[in-house]
Amino acid sequence: MTEPTRVAIVTGGARGIGRGCALELARRGLDVALVDLLAPEMVRTKGEIEALGRRCLTFEADVAEFARAEEIATAVEAAWGRIDVLVNNAGKAQPKGILEIAEEEFDRTIAINLKSCFNYIRACAPRMQKVGAGRIVSMSSLNAISGGVTAAVSRFAYASAKAGILGMTRALAKELGPNILVNAICPGLIQTELAKNHVIVERGAELARNGIALGRVGTVDDVAQIVAFLATSEPCFISGQEFVVDGFQYHR
Ligand SMILES: NC(=O)c1ccc[n+]([C@@H]2O[C@H](COP(=O)([O-])OP(=O)(O)OC[C@H]3O[C@@H](n4cnc5c(N)ncnc54)[C@H](O)[C@@H]3O)[C@@H](O)[C@H]2O)c1
Repeated sequence: MTEPTRVAIVTGGARGIGRGCALELARRGLDVALVDLLAPEMVRTKGEIEALGRRCLTFEADVAEFARAEEIATAVEAAWGRIDVLVNNAGKAQPKGILEIAEEEFDRTIAINLKSCFNYIRACAPRMQKVGAGRIVSMSSLNAISGGVTAAVSRFAYASAKAGILGMTRALAKELGPNILVNAICPGLIQTELAKNHVIVERGAELARNGIALGRVGTVDDVAQIVAFLATSEPCFISGQEFVVDGFQYHR
């Protein structure tokens, strides 16, 4: 009997790291549903996934909305019969400091970067339990560990949300184990739209020379490879962990 095709949901999958993860999962044989605010970019990524011979669904949605997550999980399950993998990747920088930020801006940063993970895990975990197995990988950040850097694109509110992901990851690895594996990635400086206009231009070259052991900033593929490994490798004895993907950035 042939194995059923596995199914992944990737939030923030239209571009950047999420797009890279979606394409790598498609290369490894999974059908992929994308959730993002950017409809045209999602259509482009969908075309790339289909060119790899895999199916793709797109959902224009704000990951901060709890009810949409349930609707999307229901639609994916109705279309393809299962959900095996969730990549909680959608996220947004927040450059304001504690003395400048408004309450709504703090709440929104937490909603996009942290509550989004709750929304999609809450919707997908029961369906993974039905399948009898599941993999969840959430995108935290080096900022969660380092507290960010002065003049960085993302300060305390982002660091708070991304650190929350690490606690959620450990707790849910226990709660959802042994069949559902839950891990987090902490990327350092990765060359994407999010980083392009800020840190890469200002600090990337200098950091690559004097602050990153591997001598360069990261690429989307550097992150996508470990996400895909955690999402697909069999067997896998890894859960509740955070993986720093930063080329060893020692000047944080
Ligand atoms: N690039 C880096 O250096 C870096 C470093 C550490 C962590 N990260 C994290 O990696 C993840 C991906 O970042 P990226 O660099 O690819 O950024 P990006 O801006 O290129 O991509 C983020 C994607 O998420 C989507 N998104 C944002 N808010 C959304 C919302 N409310 N609802 C639905 N979709 C939404 C965007 O439309 C976009 O497609 C983020 O969680 C980010 O915090 C990035």
